[in-house]
Amino acid sequence: MDATPDAPNPPPGTYAEVHAASLRDPEAFWLDAARAIDWARPPTRAFDGSAGAYGRWFPDATLNACHNAVDRHAEGGRGDQAAILYDSPVTGTKRRITYAALRDAVAVLAGVLHDLGVGRGDRVVIYMPMVPEALFGMLACARLGAVHSVVFGGFAANELAIRIADAAPKVVLAASCGIEPSRVVAYKPLLDAALAASVHKPGACLILQRPQATADLVPGRDHDWAETVARAAAEGRRADCVNVAATDPLYILYTSGTTGKPKGVVRDTGGYCVALAWSMPNLYDVAPGETYFCASDIGWVVGHSYIVYAPLLHGCTTVLYEGKPVGTPDAGALWRVVSDYGAACLFTAPTALRAVKKEDPRAERVGAYDLSAFRSLFLAGERADPDSVAWAERALDRPVIDHWWQTETGWAIAGNPVGLGRLPVKHGSACVPMPGYDLAVLDEAGKPVPAGTMGTIALRLPLPPGCLPTLWGSEERFRSSYLTTYPGWYDTSDAGIVDADGYVTVLGRTDDIINVAGHRLSTGGMEAVLASHPDVAECAVIGIRDALKGEQPCGFVVLKSGVERPTDVIEDELVALVREQIGPVAAFKLALTVQRLPKTRSGKILRGTMKRIADGEPWTTPPTIDDAGVLDEIGASLKGRGIGAG
Ligand code: COA
Ligand code: AMP
Repeated sequence: MDATPDAPNPPPGTYAEVHAASLRDPEAFWLDAARAIDWARPPTRAFDGSAGAYGRWFPDATLNACHNAVDRHAEGGRGDQAAILYDSPVTGTKRRITYAALRDAVAVLAGVLHDLGVGRGDRVVIYMPMVPEALFGMLACARLGAVHSVVFGGFAANELAIRIADAAPKVVLAASCGIEPSRVVAYKPLLDAALAASVHKPGACLILQRPQATADLVPGRDHDWAETVARAAAEGRRADCVNVAATDPLYILYTSGTTGKPKGVVRDTGGYCVALAWSMPNLYDVAPGETYFCASDIGWVVGHSYIVYAPLLHGCTTVLYEGKPVGTPDAGALWRVVSDYGAACLFTAPTALRAVKKEDPRAERVGAYDLSAFRSLFLAGERADPDSVAWAERALDRPVIDHWWQTETGWAIAGNPVGLGRLPVKHGSACVPMPGYDLAVLDEAGKPVPAGTMGTIALRLPLPPGCLPTLWGSEERFRSSYLTTYPGWYDTSDAGIVDADGYVTVLGRTDDIINVAGHRLSTGGMEAVLASHPDVAECAVIGIRDALKGEQPCGFVVLKSGVERPTDVIEDELVALVREQIGPVAAFKLALTVQRLPKTRSGKILRGTMKRIADGEPWTTPPTIDDAGVLDEIGASLKGRGIGAG
């Protein structure tokens, strides 16, 4: 897709021309895109290649993200427009929050945080479900120039503790509980356990009491959210927007790495705002004033970018949906929300679509709703399987667009830029690179491979605005994780193919990350938990194919010699241990005791071969294997649970 000097110029405004321009003259391209943002000090240049690990975007500019997402709309004619439409089938609650009301709520909460000692650059951990107050918290941090770090509610206390210890927040914002269709999840005991375990102790916690499970507050440390905010509002305490450097961090979002220790992905302020603002009209084809429905969770990057920041930066109405695609109450839930709020765009994960398809294979629920405002469905988080895409195209009679993301990038790496003129959809492909992404498939030696050949997908440095400049407190880990495999490139750790038309197909990770129901999980992290069980000698966790969730984790354990307790009891303990240590989101339900693990002669566990056996795919015995008979034992053990080929 590179522009060469002799190539005929593609027509202006088309994808090909826009992408070529972004690589040919990034300064001009991104300074032009930056005009969508209100700057306190506008950028005079887009990029400084001498700063940071690979350069920094908008190095001389200052701005405030909350001003851009909230105040400028509240004061610029959108005061009465809904900013947030909260729809919570799990509590039977709906709320319409205008831009003016959002500004007031955020200004007061920022005043409260300021009184609790939070200022520019300080961290605030947010452990909250999908309620408006969580968004108020994120935006209040942005208002103060503080750095939020949202932790997904499905993580256990231990994972929360690791994040609190790493981010060292001054304050934690939490709710008393989250609500899953099957149960109320009390968050406060998890928070208390995390704070007891963490070496870092925040000065204060602000706790939103929800009636489904109220929490006991620790005197001196915990503050009741509603009371504190009401008092501050009555006293007229509000905080104004604090301008920060465009290169200052807006948030840290922890994501699974190959070890048990999550990576703190840092998002800068200016580049992120510019990239998201570019994406709204050009990638998603959504205009200010329209409604955008992203059915993710604010605990994930997709939620940060497309529930919170991008729709608000663009003056849209965002839907905050505290429910599931199925079961709240049925498989028509997503279409009901699209219809009720006239959403122009729905963004969800393929796993959600598979769940809907399973319950409503003939898409009968779609016809029950008026979807006249709805134009396109976007999918991300895992590979969109062609069957589900084709099903959704037929069911909705609208474009279904797969696009490829990472927490690290903050916005799509590849997608179909509907606003620039939709390109032909190829099922199974995430379409073409977005502006600023100079993408290639490399072989093991770091050389670009011919079109149609599989390899590791890499992005030539610098990464475009919006992508991570570093990892929190760990520049060295940033370099060693992403920049050293192929000097001059960012290693995505995704394998894939670019075809002759420049379309990108992402096939899967090259590391030990797995993707379960669109959630990114580290098998290394699960292995660390299994290995901590006193009866376990060694273990290996792999992701095996799952029709609904894409993958599900499967743990093989070898017990210590002399252990005589029944293996099914130990296996149940292992399942419980992963749930307790990592959280229900790990969806770890399968522990299998085996006599031995298959290894190479140098002692490397043959996870790839185990996965092929479990997935029922053709496999061959690796020539380096120490004892080929072990693979048959693995196959037999899987077969005992009804997994793998017969
Ligand atoms: N707080 C607490 N627990 C949570 C949680 C949260 N926010 N989110 C999920 N969990 C729990 C679930 O209750 C479940 O617990 P269980 O083992 O007791 O049943 C467990 O974590 C696994 O959840 P999940 O993998 O999501 O499975 P599910 O069966 O509850 O739902 C889907 C299946 C497909 C409906 C659901 O995974 C889904 O909507 N996925 C979309 C993912 C997504 O949007 N990803 C973001 C990327 S775009
Ligand atoms: P996360 O950081 O949680 O967003 O997960 C990122 C990973 O999810 C990527 O590295 C991919 O492996 C996978 N992924 C996300 N979107 C897609 C997609 N559209 N197609 C294929 N894989 C995807």
